[in-house]
Amino acid sequence: MQSPESPDVYDRATRWLHWASAVLVVGIFLLGWGAHWVPRGEPRMMVRSVHITLGAVLTLLLVVRIVWRRRHGVHLESSTSAMESLAVRLFHVLLYVAMIVMVTSGIVAVWFRGVNLFDWMTIPAFDPSNKPMRRLLVDIHEFVAYGLMGLTGLHVLFALWHQYRLKDGVMHRMWPPLHQE
Ligand code: HEM
Ligand code: HEM
Repeated sequence: MQSPESPDVYDRATRWLHWASAVLVVGIFLLGWGAHWVPRGEPRMMVRSVHITLGAVLTLLLVVRIVWRRRHGVHLESSTSAMESLAVRLFHVLLYVAMIVMVTSGIVAVWFRGVNLFDWMTIPAFDPSNKPMRRLLVDIHEFVAYGLMGLTGLHVLFALWHQYRLKDGVMHRMWPPLHQE
């Protein structure tokens, strides 16, 4: 569905949801990855707690984003060819799938390993004896996290390519100049 008044720009809600999730995805990754370098004990528990809390916020945003996209969001196709349009669409679907796997594996990992959140709330491990399952979940979570970062890197490179090489205004669909709002 395209907005009649500005058909070349994603609607405002889609743009807000895109940029908020982009900042969260990168921030959550840095916290998850950086936790290895933080001393064990309280400092690491705090970093993990922020990671999990922001992860929960991202989960909510993702649900709102997907529902919004299906019901009201503007959908823009690639302007060049049907092939490119399909490739771009598949790539975006891949980004959504990776984000869904991340939040789902994160939530299930919390459930299996149990966590102490900010020394304020404890979520007990569902099955403390099942170490292999816990390891598997964390491995999936970590593996897909690197995959998601790779896809994000490519996505940003494509956006920069469009902006500075092709100069075709694709970036302005997601970040329109102020006067175009
Ligand atoms: C500096 C970072 C980023 C830039 C410059 C950027 C730029 C863009 C642009 C220009 C579009 C529109 C593409 C088009 O219409 O063909 C777009 C769409 C999209 N971006 Fe990003 N993006 C960034 C970060 C991210 C991140 C971190 C994610 C999530 C991992 C993400 C996920 C998506 C998705 C799923 C779409 C498709 C939107 C839809 O049709 O529902 N982006 N991005
Ligand atoms: C885009 C979203 C996310 C990204 C990129 C991400 C990334 C990461 C990374 C890189 C690690 C380190 C892996 C390791 O130590 O082996 C990690 C650990 C963890 N993440 Fe996430 N995460 C995300 C969302 C979530 C969510 C939504 C939750 C739960 C609500 C969550 C819960 C956890 C937990 C519990 C750990 C610690 C695992 C352990 O060492 O036992 N994550 N995450």
